[in-house]
Amino acid sequence: MKKQTEPKRYMISFDSHTTAHVFTDVLVIGSGVAGLSAAIQAAKHGSVLIVTKEKIDENNTAYAQGGIAVVLSDKDTTAKHIKDTLDAGQGLSDAATVKTIVSEGPRRVNELIEWGASFDKENNHLVFTQEGGHHFPRVIHARGDSTGKEVELTLIRVVKENKNIKVFDHTFVIDLITKDATCNGAVAWHTKKGNMLIWAKRTILATGGCGQVYRETTNPDVATGDGLAMAYRAGAALQDMEFVQFHPTTLYIAGAVRFLITEAVRGEGGILRNKKGERFMPKYHPQAELAPRDVVSQNILKEMQKTGHTHVYIDVRHIPKERLYARFPKIREICASFGIDIARDLIPVRPSAHYMIGGVKVNRFSRTAIKQLYACGEVACTGMHGANRLGSNSLLEGLVTGYMAGTDASKSIRRSKHELFPYTIQEFAGGSKISWLDLNDIGNSLKSLMWRDAGIERDEKHLLEAEDMIEMWCSYVMDKEFTNPAGWELQNMLLVSRLIVASARKRTESRGVHHRSDYPETDNPRWKRHIIMKRLKS
Ligand code: FAD
Ligand code: SIN
Repeated sequence: MKKQTEPKRYMISFDSHTTAHVFTDVLVIGSGVAGLSAAIQAAKHGSVLIVTKEKIDENNTAYAQGGIAVVLSDKDTTAKHIKDTLDAGQGLSDAATVKTIVSEGPRRVNELIEWGASFDKENNHLVFTQEGGHHFPRVIHARGDSTGKEVELTLIRVVKENKNIKVFDHTFVIDLITKDATCNGAVAWHTKKGNMLIWAKRTILATGGCGQVYRETTNPDVATGDGLAMAYRAGAALQDMEFVQFHPTTLYIAGAVRFLITEAVRGEGGILRNKKGERFMPKYHPQAELAPRDVVSQNILKEMQKTGHTHVYIDVRHIPKERLYARFPKIREICASFGIDIARDLIPVRPSAHYMIGGVKVNRFSRTAIKQLYACGEVACTGMHGANRLGSNSLLEGLVTGYMAGTDASKSIRRSKHELFPYTIQEFAGGSKISWLDLNDIGNSLKSLMWRDAGIERDEKHLLEAEDMIEMWCSYVMDKEFTNPAGWELQNMLLVSRLIVASARKRTESRGVHHRSDYPETDNPRWKRHIIMKRLKS
């Protein structure tokens, strides 16, 4: 077995005698749909502190476009939504979790509506779109193609009106504080205030995903997998890390950010065409453009390879212009800024890393294996998505699991009459003296490596190459003590990449979003099970 550079338990040195202390009943890390939902519940019976590393509304949630999959139509049923979700999961979804989240969804979405969220309507009735893998139009949306913004701003309004909730923005959580496999808060850093120890009776991790480990991604800069890495360093179990979902259609213009072209565009009739203008999806899958995402992404890649082109196109020119502009105002605006009129021109697209299906393993109350630590939303692996996530199921999951984590945390504090007892911690993390590191260069090289070797198509040769390169970077980056987020994020991204690659190497089959060209078949007898990663010493 090859020697690996083990990450340090804490990324920085600190001494509790000389560090500022902050106290709260519940600490929520992250301010997307999951963190805000958790905070609102937890604040019913105590003080809550939300810590978030950027401004409060900079997160994956705020960029969500397509909508929320939820059973609110009279013609839809919970059983149908559960079946579609389980079918997509390809044998690895947890049926009880799927049932809980799908059944609880309508209550949570109706609560959002009571709080003022406005979803798109026609003749005073909610309108529903159909997305890939769903056999029923059950996706509600807001502002046409800016659903996440509406959800995020509604939750922020509720949070700001709540006197029990404080928010520290621009505050980077570096590590969870643990003792005897119990979490007691976190160590964090603020540009002006420096380091602080936040002591909490319960901690809720809601730090979202890690799309930034890939060169091509729909995720904003904050998605560097910090929560996954800090949970791993603290000794939590991470499950299903090989299952990274790639979205089939992001705008592909050299030099432009990879702006998502929502699946709803295909739901409304958008057609995928290759360089020669040929429609190709019907020959690959009976649901054509609305096949599950892994199928669409893999076949786009095939067409790109066949035609020797960097991208394919979405064609919506047959949809009436007024309808198109009203339904997708943001996409229209962004494309127009690059000289593309969506009613007249083809939209150049290709796949990008989009969503981390794996994450910190939790039970149905969002509890992790570390006492007093919860995880919810994208950072968690609830078991809902199995090996493939259905579009628009994750805002739903974030809403429901955030609610559950917040509710359980506040209930358990009341039951246990828990008092906060800060203790002495003296950590020394210093090690490597290397000072000539170009963090940007390592970061960019890592993203290119992950895209090339651990992307949509994988095989042993490339995964091994990725493992070796990552280990080389780890050997001089992991041991070094950094003093600002650029270094910590790089350490987190290296660790998360290593876990993705190790899990992908282990799973010698193809299933859901994990496609191995050297093992193209699904191997149920061997692999209808989860892969769990846990550090040896915590
Ligand atoms: P996020 O919303 O990402 O929030 C994570 C928070 O944690 C952020 O505030 C971040 O700043 C904070 N954070 C991270 N690390 C630290 C740290 N070290 N210290 C302090 N704070 C930290 N899903 C759907 O269901 N429907 C859709 O239509 C849809 N569209 C999408 C479109 C795009 C472009 C993207 C990127 C995703 C989309 N998804 C969609 C997926 C969905 O948006 C996310 O899975 C979901 O919003 C995740 O919510 P979250 O609360 O778990 O994390
Ligand atoms: C999209 O709008 O296509 C993204 C939906 C999702 O990721 O759930």
